[in-house]
Amino acid sequence: MADTKDTVVEGVEALTLNGKAEAEPVETGTDAQAQEGGAAAGAAVEDVVDPWNVASSNDTGVDYDKLIKRFGSSKIDDELIARFEKITGKPAHHLIRRGMFFSHRDLHTILTLKEQGKPFYLYTGRGPSSGSLHVGHLIPFTLTKWLQETFDVPLVIQLTDDEKTLWKDLKVEDAIKLARENAKDIVAMGFDVNKTFIFNNLEFMGKCPAMYQNIIRIQRCVTFNQVKGIFGFGDSDIIGKIGFPAAQAAPAISSTFPFLFGNKKVHCLIPCAIDQDPYFRMTRDVAPRLGFPKCALIHSTFFPALQGAKTKMSASDQNSAVFLTDTPKQIKNKINKYAFSGGRTTVEEHRQLGGVPEIDVSYQLLKFFLEDDAKLEEVRVAYRKGEMLTGEIKKLAVETLTPIVEQHQAARKLITEEVLDKYFELRPLKFAS
Ligand code: TRP
Repeated sequence: MADTKDTVVEGVEALTLNGKAEAEPVETGTDAQAQEGGAAAGAAVEDVVDPWNVASSNDTGVDYDKLIKRFGSSKIDDELIARFEKITGKPAHHLIRRGMFFSHRDLHTILTLKEQGKPFYLYTGRGPSSGSLHVGHLIPFTLTKWLQETFDVPLVIQLTDDEKTLWKDLKVEDAIKLARENAKDIVAMGFDVNKTFIFNNLEFMGKCPAMYQNIIRIQRCVTFNQVKGIFGFGDSDIIGKIGFPAAQAAPAISSTFPFLFGNKKVHCLIPCAIDQDPYFRMTRDVAPRLGFPKCALIHSTFFPALQGAKTKMSASDQNSAVFLTDTPKQIKNKINKYAFSGGRTTVEEHRQLGGVPEIDVSYQLLKFFLEDDAKLEEVRVAYRKGEMLTGEIKKLAVETLTPIVEQHQAARKLITEEVLDKYFELRPLKFAS
């Protein structure tokens, strides 16, 4: 554990010394190692959160308040939500109100830009590791779409087929195909083609020298020691992994997209799951040194696996997730069979003691997907009191998810290659200023 800490401290200091900018609290990506060390020493077991692993020993999942402290981000509190609502003139999205987007960096700056009528853009992404997405993948894109509509700003979506080639057993050709397949799912969510640009790294970089040039500028600013500290890379990791973070950082610098922003230095807001934060801590450290603003971030919690919030839904584990390709029957079977229950062992006990919504995966699914606040609260109270049984809450989860998945499938069928090509075309986007 001491070793890991040393590496982190070294990373932070190096970032501070090299850069003129103020250093971000750089957190280690080697939580797995830290945890092993801690467990061996008999210390409390920490949650593991890095871009590759999410694990908690707690049924309620990761302790997000602790994570905010560890990562050095800020909590989305009532005051920020109130300011958000005041400036946008509408209620915050339920994913924000219910705390599923719970943490941020510099969201106030973005709100101030909006107040002053100044431009910014949205950037998010997806690593195409499997052909079909699961319902958890919808979350960052759902909020991104809402933010795009709320602020009327351009959006860039990065598909990191390069990342998945480096990390998974995937050929370059196959990763490119997966990127395109995933893009169909993203487009099916209804992003406005006039305001949205989608690109996959393995093809875009050849068409847009500005991106590669920015990658090199970024790579010049970060040492091996620093990426070791941030991501936990080791001496025997392939060099592609060590260089990759710059490819995820580059889209947060507006000059990566000359056809969108010319040479303007435009602010960027990134909606992402909190496990992606290490990439952007690095980006925020580097950006001012390249003369660009630091990207702002809005972080989501993880979408629980059906088996419980100790891990997140995973595309590589069929039974952990409801996929966007599942049939109504499969959805029903999966939820009935696997969705971890916060109910009691017998009906009598359940009626007497009540269920525990906080650990009940069906309830968690409803929190993400049931938009009606009053209904959700009704369910929570009834389940907690034992008036509602596990079978009933599962049924409601099935009834809520099934039409969402069915609608998605219908929308995806309409996405032809021609429709998709338009999103990938290098062209100016339409936005207010
Ligand atoms: N690394 C991310 C993943 O594996 C994909 C990604 C690239 C991304 N750029 C992003 C996610 C920006 C959020 C925001 O899924």
